[in-house]
Amino acid sequence: MKELLKTLVEISAPSGYESQVRNQIQEWIRPLVDEMRVDALGNLLAVHRQADAPRIMLVAHMDEIGLMITHVDRQGFARFVSLGGVMPIHCVGGRVRFLNGVQGVIGVEKNPASYEIPPLEKMFIDVGASSAEDCPIRIGDVAVFERPFLDLGKRVVAKAMDDRVGVAVLIETLRRLEKSAFEIYFVFSVQEEVGVRGATVAAFGVEPHLGLAIDVTATGDTPKGHRMEVQLGKGPAIKIRDAGMLADPRLIQWMVQTAEKAKIPYQREILEFGGTDARAIQLSRSGVPAGVISIPCRYVHAPSEMVDMEDVENAVKLLGRLLQTPSPLELSS
Ligand code: CO
Ligand code: ZN
Repeated sequence: MKELLKTLVEISAPSGYESQVRNQIQEWIRPLVDEMRVDALGNLLAVHRQADAPRIMLVAHMDEIGLMITHVDRQGFARFVSLGGVMPIHCVGGRVRFLNGVQGVIGVEKNPASYEIPPLEKMFIDVGASSAEDCPIRIGDVAVFERPFLDLGKRVVAKAMDDRVGVAVLIETLRRLEKSAFEIYFVFSVQEEVGVRGATVAAFGVEPHLGLAIDVTATGDTPKGHRMEVQLGKGPAIKIRDAGMLADPRLIQWMVQTAEKAKIPYQREILEFGGTDARAIQLSRSGVPAGVISIPCRYVHAPSEMVDMEDVENAVKLLGRLLQTPSPLELSS
C-alpha cells in the first residue's frame, strides 16, 4: 500500500483541478467496479452493485490545498491566494509546482522590524523569471507544495496525505472486497478543501441511505500539541464530533462494535476544529445518517503530513468489516 500511497501523494491536484489524480484512480479501479462515471463537478463515482441492499456512500477527497496566482509584477514575481487552508507559517522558503510543471520558491517582502509570521499577501512566488514577459505563469494558474514522499518505515510523510491516504484506503478496500451487505458507491470527491463542494453534489446524485467519509484527523501527540486524545499508531479514529458535524450515534456504535468484534484497534475522536465531506452527506436532501473513519495525521495542511502505515492498514480492515456487517439503521428503500 506504500507504493499506492506514494504514487497518489506525488500527483498535483489542488481543489478544482483534480483530473490527474482522477485519471490515475480510474485506471486502477476500472476492472473492480460495475459502473463508473464522472459528474458535472468532476467527482468520480464508482458503483459496486448489490441487489436489494441499502446504498452506502463512501467518500475520500481527491483535492489537496494549493495556491492560485492573482498577479504577476513587472519583474516576474507572482502573487497568490490560497486554495483551501494554507497556513503562512508553512510557506516561506517552500517550493511549489504548477500543473504545467513549472517550479518556484516562495519569497517574502523584507520587514526588518518584525520576526512575526507574515500574511500570504506579503509573499510571492519566484520561478526564476526576470520580467513579466519572461514569466511562464499566468493569472489563475494553480500550484501545490513540492515535496517528495518520505518513507520513515512504519511512518510515512508527504504533502497531500490529506486526503490521498483516504483515497488509498478506498482503493485498497475495493481491491480486497468480497461480499458486501451494501450497494457501495465509492466517491472520489473534488473541492473538499474549499468547502466540501464536490461531496455536496455527489450526495444528491447518489441518494445514499448512509454515508461514511474517510479523511485525516489531527493528533494530540506532539510537544505542546492540541489538547486531543488521538495519537499516531493507535488505530483509525471513529469520529464523534468535529466543527462541522455530530456523527450519527447509531453509526458510531456500529463502527465501535465492529472494531471490537474484529479486534481492530480504534480511537474515539473529538476534533475541535475542521470538518469533512461527511457533513455534506449528512445535510443533503432531507438528511442522511453519516459518520467518519479518520486516519490520524500529524502536521495536517503542512507540506509534510505524517501518517502511520498500521493505522492505514487498520482503517482498511475496519472498513472491510463494516461493509460485511448489516446496517444498524431501519431502512425503507
Ligand atoms: Co484538509
Ligand atoms: Zn481532508
